[in-house]
Amino acid sequence: MSDTEKHVRQLRRQIERHNYLYYVLDQPEISDAEYDRLFSELKLLEEKHPELSTPDSPTQRVGAEPLKQFVQVRHPLPLFSLANARNEEELRAWYVRIRKLLADRGPGAAEIALVSEPKIDGLAVSLVYEHGRLSRGATRGNGEIGEDVTMNLRTIRAIPLVMKLQADEQAPAVVEVRGEVYLPLEAFEKLNLERAAAAKPVFTNPRNAAAGSVRQLDPKVAAARPLNIWCYQIGYAEGLEIGAHWQAIQWLKEHGFRINPHIKRHTSFDEALEACRAWERRRPELNYDIDGAVVKVDDFEMQAKLGIVGRDPRWAIAFKFAPGTAITRLQKIGINVGRTGALNPYAIMEPVEVGGVTISQATMHNEDDIRRKDIREGDWVVVERAGDVIPQVVGPVIQKRSGREKPFRMPKRCPSCGSHTVRPEGEVVVRCPNKSCPSQIVESIKHFVSKGAMDIDGVGEKLVGRLFSLGLIRNMADLYYLKQEDLVGLATSSSVNKQGKEVVHRLQEASVANMMRALDDSRKRPFHRVLFALGIRHVGSINARLLASRFRNIGELMAASEDEISGVEGIGLVIAEAVREFFGEPHNLETIKRLRQAGLSFSQAPAERRAGPLAGKSFVLTGTLASLTRAEAKEKIEALGGKVAGSVGKSTDLVVAGASPGSKAKKARELGKMIIDEKEFLRLLG
Ligand code: IVH
Repeated sequence: MSDTEKHVRQLRRQIERHNYLYYVLDQPEISDAEYDRLFSELKLLEEKHPELSTPDSPTQRVGAEPLKQFVQVRHPLPLFSLANARNEEELRAWYVRIRKLLADRGPGAAEIALVSEPKIDGLAVSLVYEHGRLSRGATRGNGEIGEDVTMNLRTIRAIPLVMKLQADEQAPAVVEVRGEVYLPLEAFEKLNLERAAAAKPVFTNPRNAAAGSVRQLDPKVAAARPLNIWCYQIGYAEGLEIGAHWQAIQWLKEHGFRINPHIKRHTSFDEALEACRAWERRRPELNYDIDGAVVKVDDFEMQAKLGIVGRDPRWAIAFKFAPGTAITRLQKIGINVGRTGALNPYAIMEPVEVGGVTISQATMHNEDDIRRKDIREGDWVVVERAGDVIPQVVGPVIQKRSGREKPFRMPKRCPSCGSHTVRPEGEVVVRCPNKSCPSQIVESIKHFVSKGAMDIDGVGEKLVGRLFSLGLIRNMADLYYLKQEDLVGLATSSSVNKQGKEVVHRLQEASVANMMRALDDSRKRPFHRVLFALGIRHVGSINARLLASRFRNIGELMAASEDEISGVEGIGLVIAEAVREFFGEPHNLETIKRLRQAGLSFSQAPAERRAGPLAGKSFVLTGTLASLTRAEAKEKIEALGGKVAGSVGKSTDLVVAGASPGSKAKKARELGKMIIDEKEFLRLLG
């Protein structure tokens, strides 16, 4: 084996180990930058030596060329389904039945060891490993025949391409690992927001989104979706002796597969039942969707004795949670005006219970989506609530139509201020263009006080609305100028008591004191939080951080050109434009001025500014450096307190030009910026 080949192999092992630490154990040992460096090194070597490229290289996870169609494959052993228990009695009845069956077929037992697991609502897949290497990944299909989706499954970082083995361990000849591929809930919501904004049909639930992603002919699309997997079974195996399900789970864990940490073994039925109840309680906290818990008989011999009826093994059962969908009447489609002026349609429905919660409102994405699904006011509709996801209207029940239903049309005027609405070319969102639209202002104040922003507890959404409608606040800055005496005794809401009398709720002195304290506390929030709280379009918490670490105070950011802003790594032109537009509005400048007077932080605190000999210096790198990669150069500069920007601008201090520098060097010369070569740069780094 050549030295290069040895090195390539070593790099692959290293990268796969870090994949495992990051994606399976959630315990990374190295920085993203270090990981990227290993990855680029491997990629470069494989490009230089194509003969060393292999399908199980981590570089193959980024998505191969699109396929024309999927190949059908027969599973080595069928993938069975599960019988359901709809409630605790049915679960207990199942247990009593299998205990009796086992007693009839052998010595029997007082209690049977069971294993409880979450029933993941995703897409079942089968992963075949031959001599430790992933050779094929397929969908469940009809249980006997599925589709070969190996290319797409390879893009899921939590799926080992090569299983983890001990130093002297031989991989079994064949092991088929089964699991459920899913899309985390946040990723699902983000994906749908993006799709809605791009006028693409949205996915109705995370399961459909996961299935759609795995069954993509273009692996690059799958690679771009943060799919994940929970493995839960060993199917077909050769050269592997395992006697029980719990043992199989441990084996999978030891061999690098992602196993749900809450899977438990029980020695009594009551324990297993309690675990199922715990899963139902835990459901809203999970970042993935489950539609039940699965209880399995642990011992394989017992499993064999129990056998299969039809497609359902007798040795396992799904304890189903209250269903996540319901049917109700859509009374009206309401319109919410968001803080950026977007008119968001939402469903107002007759209250209905879905998954144990009563709902009467649901989101509806956008006008086009409502048209496409042909949802009309007055329709009976299917609503769905999956895990923690906001309830959604899935579609109309056409059979129940009376003919009096009204097709939906977006209003021509803003329901809040009456301005003529606009729908820019190529966009799906209808907007209110009026910057002083009351709805937009109230929403922007709600955003300002919200948890991720200024986090002013004691000033909730309702109170913001009330203060605004009373004219006590007209913008976010006014919050800091509220006086105790304006608030104590203020009527905030009313309700009807048991005697049928109206009771008015008023702000008490104590809660006003709390509010004042919370407002005071919020003055200490760091610059990036303030920047996020301002509610600049497209500037979420991450972008706010990026901007705050590049521009040290609001003055610098206000003075920056669009080019300089979009020169910040991770910030694009759309964001840069939105920032410029925001600072172009006189009323925003006025608000900032008053927030500043109120004592909010509009510059990076000195403690946050990194100290070091290059502190405050902004670098731009161009061309190739011989002795270190760009990522390494960036790391070194940052370690000494400097910053690295993506393009040359007014605030650039130094440009480092390596071999064959590009247009950045030209721009630097035009602007009269100092340019140094690699030798000088190394000297500077010491
Ligand atoms: S075991 C008997 N375990 O549920 C073996 N299945 O309704 C059947 N599923 O097709 C599979 N989580 O897609 C098993 N922890 C889990 C599961 C699980 C989700 C799915 C799987 C299967 C379906 C059966």
